Amino acid sequence: MLNGKNILIGITGGIAAYKICELIRKFKKNGANVRVVATPNALNFVTKLTLQNLSQNEVYVEEFNVKDWRPEHISFADEADIMLIAPATANTISKIATGVADNLLTSIACAFNKKMIIAPAMNCNMWNNPVVQENISKLRSLGVEFLEPESGFLACGYIGKGRLCSIDKIYSSVVEALNYSKKLEGKKVVVTSGGTIEDIDPVRYISNYSSGKMGFAIANAAKNMGAEVVLITTKNFEAPYKIVKVKSAIDMQNAIDKEFETSDYIIMAAAVADYRVKNYSQQKMKKTNDDNLVLELVKNPDILKGLCDKKTHQIIVGFCAESENLLNNAKEKIAKKGCDYLVANDISRADIGFSSDDNEVSILDKSGKIVKLDKAPKKVIARQILEYINE
Ligand code: PMT
Repeated sequence: MLNGKNILIGITGGIAAYKICELIRKFKKNGANVRVVATPNALNFVTKLTLQNLSQNEVYVEEFNVKDWRPEHISFADEADIMLIAPATANTISKIATGVADNLLTSIACAFNKKMIIAPAMNCNMWNNPVVQENISKLRSLGVEFLEPESGFLACGYIGKGRLCSIDKIYSSVVEALNYSKKLEGKKVVVTSGGTIEDIDPVRYISNYSSGKMGFAIANAAKNMGAEVVLITTKNFEAPYKIVKVKSAIDMQNAIDKEFETSDYIIMAAAVADYRVKNYSQQKMKKTNDDNLVLELVKNPDILKGLCDKKTHQIIVGFCAESENLLNNAKEKIAKKGCDYLVANDISRADIGFSSDDNEVSILDKSGKIVKLDKAPKKVIARQILEYINE
């Protein structure tokens, strides 16, 4: 699976460094060329000899160990297809976020302009430190993918969030990142995500359980496939592309309309409210003596249908959230809305759909063809959807 791929692994000084030995073996077994760069502190936890034997490559720690005319921090950055830093300490993350290049690993990171994945591991108080979180947010907004640490028993004796995520998760994330084609280069992809919020009064609103994760995963996958991306969302995300924050269905429609003409793909993963309250109350509504309260609702515009009705060259993909008769309802919906593809998911299941990290979907097209994608992390499903609609 990884034949011919060049993976650069940066190891920093944390107890989880020993776990990376297993990961290097797995990369090697699957055909990758692995280059390891360790910080001096990493070698307090794992030996250079071990890393060298497993990677079958010389392990570098110091700068200025120059054997040919090109300095290592540039040549290693150039030769790698991907850079993985695991475990990454708060110290190294913060240095990379601020452009500090004071050892070989941070110098390479500073010169690296391809896909970077960071798997942090540290004490939970360090993880929760606002300065560390701010640096992580900054790197995320620049396109670095973070594999969040897990909660549990930490080597320092604390129980909390800070344990390196599983080796399997790191492995599959690297494989996933190396799998992207560049099919969307030169294309503009507009994605919607999150549940719209329809205000009742200054205090209350109508919404739904959408976390925005599915749409965010699609936007990230489109970016990885080379597209210019616009994410229109009701949630807060950091990413290296344009994000337009919206609230209601009407806001979302206005934001899409601004991007519509110049876009090549519109992917509507947002859960848009079908109705909004007819009369928004400027003041907080008071409790009355009546046992019942009737809110009058009016229909929101069907954004997806409106786009399909006026489309010229755009490929339009809708989503379909159903709690019963998934495929029958989806078939009716694609006919009614007129979109090119409809991605149907069962939102009655707790392990997929709303809020979960995984999804399982069926993709319908206009001709009636249905393709099922097995349960997988949303980022995998996102890539598969984009690959499929570009076959
Ligand atoms: O955000 P997550 O927690 O990751 O969850 C993902 C998800 C379950 C929200 C997502 O996978 C999903 O199914 N999104 C569509 C939800 C939805 O509103 O489905 P629907 O069947 O009601 O609507 C069909 C399509 O019409 C959708 O593309 C929707 O965006 C669109 N629509 C709906 C109503 C409306 N007034 N205007 C619309 O454009």
